[in-house]
This record gives sequence, structure tokens and C-alpha cells, in this order.
Amino acid sequence: MIDNTSKLVIAIDGYSSCGKSTVAKDLAKLLNIIFIDSGAMYRCVTLFALENEIIKGGAINVDKLKEALNHISITFKFDAQAKTNETYLNGVSVEKKIRGLEVSNHVSMISALGFVREKMVELQQKMGETDSIVMDGRDIGTVVFPDADLKLFMTASPEIRAGRRFKEYQDKNEDISFEEVLENVKKRDHIDETRDESPLKKADDAVVLDNGNIGKEEQLEFIVGELKNKGLIK
Ligand code: DC
Repeated sequence: MIDNTSKLVIAIDGYSSCGKSTVAKDLAKLLNIIFIDSGAMYRCVTLFALENEIIKGGAINVDKLKEALNHISITFKFDAQAKTNETYLNGVSVEKKIRGLEVSNHVSMISALGFVREKMVELQQKMGETDSIVMDGRDIGTVVFPDADLKLFMTASPEIRAGRRFKEYQDKNEDISFEEVLENVKKRDHIDETRDESPLKKADDAVVLDNGNIGKEEQLEFIVGELKNKGLIK
């Protein structure tokens, strides 16, 4: 389906719990290219900071975090059997831990730091140097890959997104109410949109995909249509 001679970079940005990763994963599978969840990278730094008392009592020890960034290795492995992508922090799978409430509640403060973003962007750009990739996040089309072949901006209402995340927590038996999840979603939207460093915003040349009322198949069809329109795939 994909023209083998060309290297493809697809950027998917948007609000939290929009289903960006799900679509990005499906797309990567369909096109047989690499999927990178850039949010998982900020989550790894947050987990490391929490586990090493770099975040304590809601405050970040900036000097300690700057030093720690030199010792944090983040990698992704595709588990062919489970057909899932696993995130590794310093060689240890942290996929489950980085999705927990503790990390979710602190990740915005970590991802708002310029020196953290600089380091993550550098790593992300390296990942896209040689291979065709689909990367999802908040600043992929605006900062990480401003020349991406296709940029998508995904959105859905806060209630729909909170509903999705609430279900995920329920499936994991986490004790949290819908109202708490909704509050967390709205708080993160606000922080993501108003932070000084690379705030979440649609790139001028990004295509909007509101997936509030459409399923996975339709979303994929839409994206494949865009890729075909641009002559990026046949
Ligand atoms: O997509 P996610 O919810 O896993 O992202 C976790 C946090 O990281 C979220 O608060 C936004 C931030 N993030 C970011 O600032 N830039 C990115 N490219 C990806 C995520």
C-alpha cells in the first residue's frame, strides 16, 4: 500500500484521551511503519521523577531532574504476541505504571518544562530520521516534525473523552469517579493549551478529525483518504 521508496512521517496531535494512540497504532499497523507514543515519553520522565523523589510534595527539584535526564533511557518494543507496544524505562517495562493516576496527575507539570521538552523533542526527531513513522502527541506537527507529510489534529468533547478514560480505569479496577476523571481531563486540556512551552495548538496545515461520534474504522478510512489525496500512498 505504501510507496517503499518514500519515507513517511505522520503527525497526530490533539487533546488527551482523544484516541490518538489507538488510531496511530492502527495506522502504523496498516502501513507497516513504526508507531511512537510521545506522551509515553513524558510519562516515563514523570514516573522516574516520582520514584526518585524528584517530585516531592507537589514540587519539582529542577536541578535533580536536569541531572536525571542524562540517565533516563526510553525505548519502545513491539510485543508481536500480544500485538501491543510496550514502553521501557531504563530497560524495564513500565507500560502499566505510566498509565496510572499518580503519573497522570503529575505529567502536565513535567511536560511544561522547557528543558524536558527539548530533550524529548531531540529523541523524537532522532526516531524519525531513518524510518517511516506515525507519532502522536501535542506538538508533533508544530514543533517535532513541522515538515511532516500528513498532520492530523484530533478532537472530541471533554465528556466523551472522560467517558473513555473512565472506562479504562474501571477495566483496571481503579477506584475513581467519572467526575474526577472529567476534572482531570479538563485540567490537563487547560494546562496543555496555556503552557508557555509548545502549547497544544492545531498546526495551520493540519487536518481536523473530530472522532466524538465515529468509530475506529471510519477514522482509519478518513486518514487513508487523506494520504491518498496527497499522493502519499496508492
Ligand atoms: O497523550 P498522553 O495523555 O499520554 O500525554 C501525557 C502528557 O504529556 C499530557 O499531559 C500532555 C503531555 N504531552 C506533551 O506535552 N507533548 C507531547 N508531544 C505528548 C504529550
